[in-house]
Amino acid sequence: MKYAVIGHPIDHSLSPVMHNANFESLGASSSYEALNIPEQQFHLIKDIISDKGLAGFNVTIPHKERIIPYLDEIDDQSKTVGAVNTVNIENGKWIGYNTDGIGYVTGLRQTYENLEEAKILIIGAGGASKGIANELQQFVKPKLTVANRTLSRFDNWHLDINKMSLAEAETSLANFDIVINTTPIGMKDNREVVISLDNLSSHTLVSDIVYIPFKTSILKLAEAKGNPIYNGLDMFVFQGAESFRIWSGQMPDINTMKQAVLKRL
Ligand code: ATR
Repeated sequence: MKYAVIGHPIDHSLSPVMHNANFESLGASSSYEALNIPEQQFHLIKDIISDKGLAGFNVTIPHKERIIPYLDEIDDQSKTVGAVNTVNIENGKWIGYNTDGIGYVTGLRQTYENLEEAKILIIGAGGASKGIANELQQFVKPKLTVANRTLSRFDNWHLDINKMSLAEAETSLANFDIVINTTPIGMKDNREVVISLDNLSSHTLVSDIVYIPFKTSILKLAEAKGNPIYNGLDMFVFQGAESFRIWSGQMPDINTMKQAVLKRL
């Protein structure tokens, strides 16, 4: 079977390395490539994918929303988030899924012991935040809190959550057991942190959905304070693993996938 990830730019994607390592480990003769599709070419997507003979593909920045009108069906998570990262082609039908939320939460469940009781703050209210919140709700009893710079972003949120500003998040930070940054702040090599960590409790796990860089500025700051940290590597691996499960119905070799990515970082 042939698979791909579509995006723009896509040169640095680690998805091909990760998926091909899994195929090899399972003895499958499948292949996975990165396809660079600029916005101006996107209207040709149906032809591009059928010329390649793909059985399924991943969708990344900037096409996760743009793909939706081309799909025959989308799953509930994609509907909630308004974005798709996985397409399965079944008898010519294109079916969209979003595995980012389950990817993050699967990793967190394996990392954090008492997730069910955890008080969680998610910073940012974009697509990634919504997917994680929607998935996390199934596993956590206390109501989730989401903080965002722009409060009007919550207008199309229909989840039962506490909403607050970034300033409120800073002052109430001591109440949370897990803090998850979903904003792009702190990816570059600078000291910018989305909220001050002055009020952070010493036990609180600080997390970021990014894994390049391996430690964003919020993770570096939290680590310097002696807090446990958790980056986005597992999210990347588990979202890919879930895509593979959707395409093949098979369980992937998660450890091989993770090692293949780690080798390239
Ligand atoms: P994604 O799909 O990765 O979630 P997104 O939907 O563009 O990306 O969402 C980006 C999130 O990062 C938003 O919550 C955004 O806040 P706003 O709604 O206020 O724009 C947040 N974000 C981006 N840049 C930010 C900044 N400089 N300060 C604070 N939040 C920022």
